[in-house]
Amino acid sequence: MKKILFASSETHPLIKTGGLADVAGSLPIALTSLGQDVRIIMPNYQSIKNCEPGRYLCTVRVNNADVNLLETHLPDSEVIVWLVDFPALFNQPGNPYNDESGNPWPDIGDRFALFCRIVTEVAMNRAYLDWKPDVVHCNDWQTGLVPALLSLEENRPATVFTIHNMAYQGVFPSSAYTQLNLPGQLWHPDGLEYHGMLSFIKGGLSFSDWITTVSPTYAQEIQTPEFGYGLEGLLAHRQHTLSGIINGIDLTVWNPESDQKIAQTYTVRTLNKKVLNKTALQARLGLPVSADLPLFGLIGRLVDQKGIDLVLNCLKEMAKMPLQFALLGSGDTSIQVRLQDFARLYPDKFSITIGYDENLAHQIEAGADMFLMPSRFEPCGLNQMYSQRYGTLPIVRKTGGLADTVVDALPDTIQDGTASGFVFSEAVPGALMETIKRALVLHANRPLWQKLQRNAMGKDFSWENSANQYLALYRAI
Ligand code: ADP
Ligand code: GLC
Repeated sequence: MKKILFASSETHPLIKTGGLADVAGSLPIALTSLGQDVRIIMPNYQSIKNCEPGRYLCTVRVNNADVNLLETHLPDSEVIVWLVDFPALFNQPGNPYNDESGNPWPDIGDRFALFCRIVTEVAMNRAYLDWKPDVVHCNDWQTGLVPALLSLEENRPATVFTIHNMAYQGVFPSSAYTQLNLPGQLWHPDGLEYHGMLSFIKGGLSFSDWITTVSPTYAQEIQTPEFGYGLEGLLAHRQHTLSGIINGIDLTVWNPESDQKIAQTYTVRTLNKKVLNKTALQARLGLPVSADLPLFGLIGRLVDQKGIDLVLNCLKEMAKMPLQFALLGSGDTSIQVRLQDFARLYPDKFSITIGYDENLAHQIEAGADMFLMPSRFEPCGLNQMYSQRYGTLPIVRKTGGLADTVVDALPDTIQDGTASGFVFSEAVPGALMETIKRALVLHANRPLWQKLQRNAMGKDFSWENSANQYLALYRAI
């Protein structure tokens, strides 16, 4: 049995802004099912919900601050969650990265530096918990200082650093280095220094024993300038200790057979009931109710990564076609405004919901016929897997985890029963539009469409396989 300390800045259902929370809320459970002893550690944000209040464990002093550790559990599970409680930094309204108005926390470096110091103390069994992990599994830049700080320790646990997104690196001016009182030995170009600035992610990339990312294709892509954002050289240098492990999905949360958030549950054998979710969704969103009109869905953070600009460039043409489109998301104001303008122009065609709404996310997955995910890059992506599970065929760009999880419907893949969605390569609106039309042609052929839906719903995206790969890695390092 391995003892694993799993450090993450967000964990579903306690707090979530994106897929990292889904992973942190489900991989530890899958590892526990494999007989491992996993503890999650994350900051005690004000907006944490869906768990019993944290029980006080101890107080740890780091960098002249007294920080409390509280203990709670993932709901309906044995997995322990340690909450790093420091009200001056974490007890404020907003999400882990932004304040209530969506502006990044000005002291975000202080927040996660403190978090990393506490993770390090817990990892070294200096927090009076009488528990020393064999492996510390860190996730994204918010935990990047942990492998760096641990590198200075004797008898330290092994470290894994998982990249969920290379676009976010936690880079700060060099003055932050002094202000955060970080050890001088770590300040060099092979350490935390990045062109004269402090880079949190480099702590993970330079000092961890092993680097993983969330799909095999993204593991290759980040070694190139287009996806490596300046760190491709370092990643290529570490290629022998870098691997891609695809995320799984939590079937207790995302399963049309048992989903309590949708109007009508269904299975691959009762696919004809899926349409009740479509009509319920149309009614909820104020779109004309029609069982036959093809309905496209999209859920996501409205940022460049997600290729929303490609969708925006297709909407005019889509408005002329017999179809509907339901989008849920929030992010860049300029994208939000442009989307809402289209919804105002074509209220019978397009429904745009700006905000974060888990119920509606499930209802779109269940109600739509097709799901748009034309990402410019996508480390793994979860919605394309949820969509396949719900028989909602994804239309994706061939990148990262999208390339690894969706099989394009072409004559040979239709023939051999593997086709499960639609894939295009070039990041241009014309390529997306062509693929939408290709999907519409197949959608008009009922028996064929249902065959594709059954292929998609039958795919195994469960965590078991990936959790076993992580376990093999923990053992190897
Ligand atoms: P990323 O982590 O890059 O945002 P993923 O596809 O891995 O992308 O995961 C996104 C997760 O966040 C999914 O579970 C998705 O349903 C959810 N999500 C994104 N935006 C919203 C929103 N506006 N409302 C509800 N859920 C959302
Ligand atoms: C990131 C990526 C997304 C991935 C998620 C969970 O936010 O953008 O592709 O699925 O992390 O690993």
